[in-house]
Formats: sequence, C-alpha cells, structure tokens
Amino acid sequence: MTADLLRAQLLAWYDANARDLPWRVGPRDHAAGVRAEPYRVWLSEVMLQQTTVPHATPYFLKFTARWPTVSDLAAAPDEEVMAAWAGLGYYARARNLLACARAVARDHGGVFPDTEEGLRSLPGLGPYTAAAVGAIAFDRPANVVDGNVERVMARLFAVETPLPEAKPELKRLAGALVREDRPGDWAQALMDLGATICRPKAPLCDRCPIASSCAGLAGGAPETYPRKTAK
Ligand code: ADE
Repeated sequence: MTADLLRAQLLAWYDANARDLPWRVGPRDHAAGVRAEPYRVWLSEVMLQQTTVPHATPYFLKFTARWPTVSDLAAAPDEEVMAAWAGLGYYARARNLLACARAVARDHGGVFPDTEEGLRSLPGLGPYTAAAVGAIAFDRPANVVDGNVERVMARLFAVETPLPEAKPELKRLAGALVREDRPGDWAQALMDLGATICRPKAPLCDRCPIASSCAGLAGGAPETYPRKTAK
C-alpha cells in the first residue's frame, strides 16, 4: 500500500461523507473554488480544542451571528464575549481569543495572515491552530494533528510506543501523508474519520475506507491503540 493510494481512498471517502459543519466549505464547493473564511475556521478550531462538535456548534452559530467578522469580535466589550463564552469553559481561551482578534484587527487590517508562520505570530494562536487554519482556510500543506489524528495514526501504523511519548512519532507519521494537494480537505478527512469511524471505543472498521492498510486492524485489536502508559 502506498501513501498515495491511501490518501486517494480517504479523500474519496471524504468527498462522499464529509460532515456538514457550519464553518466548513464542503469538498464539492471547495473543488469549485469556494474558500473557507479564516475567521470562521479559526473560531471553530479554538472552540473545538476544548469540546465536541455537537457542544461547540451552537456557540459557533451564536458568535458568528453576533460578530460576523473578526473586526466585529475585536470591537466587542470583554464582558460580552466572556458572557457568550460561558459554558465552553476555560476562560483563558476566551481572553486569548479576544487578544488574537484585536491583533488581527489592529495590526493586520482585519485580515488573518495566510501562512502558518504569520498565524503563529498572533497572540494566543498556538501550533495546532496555526496548522489547522493554514491548511483549512489557506490550503497550506500543514500537518494538523489533534487527538483524533493521533489515534488514527497509532492504529494505522500499530504504534507500540505509549502516549504521551508517542506524540512526536505520531506527528511524524501524519506529516509523511501530507501533500500539496488538498491539504485542507486532507486534515478534515482525518478528523472526520477519527470522529465517526476510527472512534476511541468500538471503531467501525467494516466501514473504514483505509481498513486494508491498517496494521492495527491486521493485528486483531485496533481499539487497543493508541497504547497508554500504565498508571
Ligand atoms: N475538530 C477540530 N477541528 C475540526 C474540524 N475542522 N472539523 C471537524 N472536527 C474538528
């Protein structure tokens, strides 16, 4: 199995099965040249770092209805944003969110930088978010690795190293599958696979588009990856 065949299988699955999410431009529209708005991608990624898609979605809709652009959010009073964030937890995230929005408005004319490096220069915007926004909003070939992607890699390659030590190895394995072609769709395809098929418990391997490449499945116990250090 080559990496390029595996990529083609997963991208074809994503073309047919991509979740319809309010911040997302689906694969068909994306292929037709529609681009995701960086503000919406950034906001969704910050929210999703601490909660699930079903929990974050109403917050995302509320924020974007009230503050349709990053400059609108930047101009909002702190208390209003904090109140709207209530229920998402981790208020430090909301403070970082505002600091970042204000930097984009003040220093970048309300336009997000379009490279991972430029995104990293913004306050409170870490490596994961820079990679996700770079890939999804700007089609940069960034290596977007969250817990879902770590789990998919651990199973696909039957990585025996336990978490958290395995993190660099899992990131390297994920990086070796990134191409210039469709990096945003690729990142979201991996996330959707991890969320809907390669689930933490009871993975649905009989519906997995890359099952024939999966070393974890071949070994008979894919759900036992990623390994964890005994507590
Ligand atoms: N989890 C984190 N980011 C996501 C995204 N862009 N789509 C789906 N699930 C996600």
